[in-house]
Amino acid sequence: MLPIVPVQLQYAASYRECLDVVAREKRYLAQIEALPLARIEAFVQESVAHDAVQFFALDGERVVGWADIFPAWAHAVAHRGTLGMGVHPAYRRQGLGRRLLSACIDKAWHQGLTRIELEVRTDNDDAIRLYEHMGFQHEAVKARALRFDGVYYNAAQMRLLHDGAP
Ligand SMILES: CC(C)(COP(=O)(O)OP(=O)(O)OC[C@H]1O[C@@H](n2cnc3c(N)ncnc32)[C@H](O)[C@@H]1OP(=O)(O)O)[C@@H](O)C(=O)NCCC(=O)NCCS
Repeated sequence: MLPIVPVQLQYAASYRECLDVVAREKRYLAQIEALPLARIEAFVQESVAHDAVQFFALDGERVVGWADIFPAWAHAVAHRGTLGMGVHPAYRRQGLGRRLLSACIDKAWHQGLTRIELEVRTDNDDAIRLYEHMGFQHEAVKARALRFDGVYYNAAQMRLLHDGAP
């Protein structure tokens, strides 16, 4: 079974490559290419320093998936974290997404978050099924939330509350 590990600086470049592959699919993520390596390294460094909720799936030394939950900073919304994730196309449907998400959810609750939220394109069936299996509930649909090459897509807003509250 491929390991799921907490964020580490040594994997920053490989994480960027994986993110870039998924971003260039131009379908699932808001970004269509990864930020430059220096920006990613700074971001990863910050994550490590703050013991952020961020995990990588590794095949050897290569990052093949990631998931993270970053909290909001302002006082009244600091109990909320936003989920982002992706698995390299060659590694999907092997359970990595589920394991990455589980690791993030456990750590998010452990760190005191009580609400995890996300937005996902309404035609991203695989992601939505995974989130539903993990207990996420649908909240609303945002119209024209994303635009790729002039075409708009709706996004579902989903949330998971701590202690299984509906
Ligand atoms: C969404 C995403 C992260 C899921 O990752 P994943 O590693 O494929 O997820 P999993 O393998 O854990 O689960 C996905 C499905 O594969 C199934 N699966 C798991 N192992 C399997 C196996 N050995 N054989 C067949 N199917 C399998 C799971 O059961 C699940 O299907 P189900 O929900 O119908 O049960 C991945 O599809 C992805 O990266 N998509 C592009 C980026 C993206 O959409 N990010 C989220 C934006 S909001």
